[in-house]
Amino acid sequence: MRTKAENKIIFGDCQNMEELEDNSVHLVVTSPPYFNAPFDYPDLFESYEQFLDLIRNVAKELKRVLDSGRIAAFVVDDTLIKGKKYPVVADITKIFIEEGYKYRERIVWVKPEGYIRISRRSGVLLQHPYPMYYYPDNIQESILIFQNGEFDYKKIPTEIKEESRIDINKYQREKWYLSVWNITNVLPINNRLEKGIAAFPEEIPYRLIKLFSYRGETVLDPFMGSGTTLKVARDLGRRCVGYEIDLELLPIVKEKLKMNQYTLFGKDSFEVKIRDDVKHLRTQLQEKVKSAGKRR
Ligand SMILES: C[S@@+](CC[C@H](N)C(=O)[O-])C[C@H]1O[C@@H](n2cnc3c(N)ncnc32)[C@H](O)[C@@H]1O
Repeated sequence: MRTKAENKIIFGDCQNMEELEDNSVHLVVTSPPYFNAPFDYPDLFESYEQFLDLIRNVAKELKRVLDSGRIAAFVVDDTLIKGKKYPVVADITKIFIEEGYKYRERIVWVKPEGYIRISRRSGVLLQHPYPMYYYPDNIQESILIFQNGEFDYKKIPTEIKEESRIDINKYQREKWYLSVWNITNVLPINNRLEKGIAAFPEEIPYRLIKLFSYRGETVLDPFMGSGTTLKVARDLGRRCVGYEIDLELLPIVKEKLKMNQYTLFGKDSFEVKIRDDVKHLRTQLQEKVKSAGKRR
């Protein structure tokens, strides 16, 4: 039987993670809100600078809670708003380097063609088959891997190492060894649990958790959304912690994590905390998305 509250969910702003002790987290897997993306977060931020301030504050707070040598993996992409591209990937990389992380890797996540949800811009050239009309459809995102100093490989007991062994056949067969990962994304269509949430597919946290954490360690998602990282972390025998600012996601997280239900390991212990700085975002955002759709 697990001990009490080994998993934590905090509804509040992750710029402050006071519930977590210094160096208490072994891996961060997350995807921050896409800067004012028209389909998910219209006008969530007053400016691009405000978005970057959020990222910087979170990078600082993560530096405090991450154990030394450990990884923060950020799934991000540049955002296109009204024909203007914002260099989110480059700016986040720069911020993390400035905050003292080692920029270890960038993996390109490629989604299948036909799974594009945002703008199909390539049609412009079909209408105008001439130079200068080229706007490709975007089917990729970046998985940025930052490291909090050097990792001491000798610190991990042999037994834990063995329990966390990576399946080499899967690694070869599914080409985890490449810096390009072909993974089908989640479309937040009606009647899906993830509707209205830019959720990533389970395969992304699955690979990252397998590749960068040991069994029994703690995995944190500061921008929890529907709770995909937490679900996979728990399935893989890791402890999990999530922060989410939007209280309206609580029922979705509860359902995804099958909280309060008995599992193979006994009753799951989750501590849920709702702080005063929580917001009610989804209804508001969905209304904005709908009215923008009508105007189009
Ligand atoms: C891209 S979504 C994450 C989706 C998640 N990976 C999943 O699979 O469901 C980003 C989430 O961050 C939340 N968020 C935005 N600002 C936040 C903040 N300051 N603190 C905590 N959560 C925040 C949003 O409400 C949103 O649910």
